[in-house]
Amino acid sequence: MFVFKDTGEILKLELLRSDNWQDYELLDSGDGQKLERFGPYKFSRPEAQAIWKKKAPASAWNDVHGVFQPTREESGGHWNFKKPVPEKWVMTYGDLKFWVMPTPGRHLGVFPEVASHWDWCGNLIRGAKRPIKVLNLFGYTGIASLAAAKAGAQVTHLDASKKSVTWARDNQLLSGLEAAPIRWIVDDAVAFVEREARRGAQYDGIILDPPKFGRGPKGEVWEVYENLPTLLGACRSILTQDPLFIALTMYAVRASGVHLYYSMEEMMSSFKGNIDVGELVTADKSADRLLSHAVYARWSSNL
Ligand SMILES: C[S@@+](CC[C@H](N)C(=O)[O-])C[C@H]1O[C@@H](n2cnc3c(N)ncnc32)[C@H](O)[C@@H]1O
Repeated sequence: MFVFKDTGEILKLELLRSDNWQDYELLDSGDGQKLERFGPYKFSRPEAQAIWKKKAPASAWNDVHGVFQPTREESGGHWNFKKPVPEKWVMTYGDLKFWVMPTPGRHLGVFPEVASHWDWCGNLIRGAKRPIKVLNLFGYTGIASLAAAKAGAQVTHLDASKKSVTWARDNQLLSGLEAAPIRWIVDDAVAFVEREARRGAQYDGIILDPPKFGRGPKGEVWEVYENLPTLLGACRSILTQDPLFIALTMYAVRASGVHLYYSMEEMMSSFKGNIDVGELVTADKSADRLLSHAVYARWSSNL
């Protein structure tokens, strides 16, 4: 906690847990790995932040359906399956249903720790009692977009990967939201937002979950430390007069909640609202420990 000398305002870092899961569990972590349950299937994956020792017995770690074997490059590797796993299966979060599958990038199509953002955005949209337009950048398999649409928002979902957008559209059908007003876009985040600004498009809520490094569909390079200020500036220019929320999450290791606080404060300085910042964490079931995944900053007109 930090108290600003001039204003007496308090900056407090929160630890935000996503506790409403039935289908997901972090079973244990340690020695650079995490042990998780996605529906009925258990997996172990590398987790650089788990610098402590495992607590669950070796038998629990051996009783998995798949193990991700990393190569030296940060995102490379392959899955070793120890028991049969279907090509894909359905997971549920509240009213939402989505496909999950082990992918070559070590992820399974859902980042369970961001579920608290889905709830937060959904509650703000429902509480706004007015039409809300939401932009979801770096939207991946679309669960945040579906949560916003389910809450009644008109959603624009964007990702550079056509495959991810197809997956997100399949999740829309699976969740029974085929009639929901969602616009699916394959584009580079910065290029799209700058184009929207030139067109005079406006949004009430923006969700951003940028990776550390990525590429747009035409090879545009995304490097978070380099490009985030430009992107936030462009996002600022497509906000309505009376924006409802911004939710920014960053998995990049060098990031800090304090730094995101200042980025958000600068972006939203001309609006009246509140900022909360902190880390997205999951409680480790075996050890009663918290595993931290990401830092976040959220601005809202009515926190
Ligand atoms: C996996 S999600 C975010 C999850 C998490 N923040 C992380 O770092 O792993 C990142 C998404 O951003 C998309 N992406 C990467 N570069 C992009 C760009 N320049 N414009 C739009 N989307 C991009 C990827 O296709 C991917 O679906």
